[in-house]
Amino acid sequence: MKVVRTREEFLAARGALRAPVGLVPTMGALHAGHAALLGAARQECASVVTTNFVNPLQFGAGEDLERYPRTLDADVALCEQLGVDLVWAPAVEDVYPAGSTQVRVEPGPLGTILDGVSRPGHFGGMLTVVAKFLNLVRPDRAYFGEKDYQQLALIRLMNADLDMGAAIIGVETVREDDGLALSSRNVYLSAEDRKHALALSQALFAGRDAAGDGADAVVAAAEQRLAAEPGIDVDYLALRGADLGAPPQHGPARLLVAAKVGSTRLIDNVGLVL
Ligand code: PAJ
Repeated sequence: MKVVRTREEFLAARGALRAPVGLVPTMGALHAGHAALLGAARQECASVVTTNFVNPLQFGAGEDLERYPRTLDADVALCEQLGVDLVWAPAVEDVYPAGSTQVRVEPGPLGTILDGVSRPGHFGGMLTVVAKFLNLVRPDRAYFGEKDYQQLALIRLMNADLDMGAAIIGVETVREDDGLALSSRNVYLSAEDRKHALALSQALFAGRDAAGDGADAVVAAAEQRLAAEPGIDVDYLALRGADLGAPPQHGPARLLVAAKVGSTRLIDNVGLVL
């Protein structure tokens, strides 16, 4: 496995990769969720590249850019164990030589709902760095988690609308045994927060269990579980179609939640069939 830092080192190493190339973009602080993406890429691709970069462009003012966990040594060890071929951990100036970008990807209407409401600028900054990494790596396949469902949907749209040409692969959410979705931000949770945070996945599972009784029953069951939990401040609970449009009468749908638990904002979602 090769670990490179600068853009020049990366471009030199890029030439040695064999097709099909799989890309797993991350912000580091790797956990079993990231490992599932890397494992899927390892199974399906001749070469696996991962980027490890905390992208300033996708953090809003007052968000956690400075305190976001950075664990590069442990990340590199995990990548080695998983059979990754190339880890690219660039500095901010390698990704943004001019300090930032003048041109950004505009997410469009799908970027204005759900997380787009509470995190203005987030999806534009996220899509911009994903576009840069797709352009620099030119992978055949790129892997993203369903954990960040709106992010995955937006990346699929960008890839299709702008003819970027990678196959975008969605990977199921990895959870703790008790249901909590793995997230690099879970390290911010106190022991007390950690208990309250369980209400999110439990609400989603309660909603999914009620799917046979229709859309209203799904939302009511999830709301009931959330309302019973002290110590969480719900941003949204939403039932949508699988493409995040209006939910269908019958067929695949997605139930999504965002909430602050203590000072930590968490998101989660599940698929269900109405
Ligand atoms: P990050 O939060 O590090 O996540 C990297 C990838 O891991 C994303 O595709 C995310 O959906 C996936 N992931 C995170 N937790 C997961 C879980 N519990 N199960 C399955 N997959 C999970 O998402 C980002 O970074 C950034 O926005 C990025 C796409 C790298 C652009 O900066």
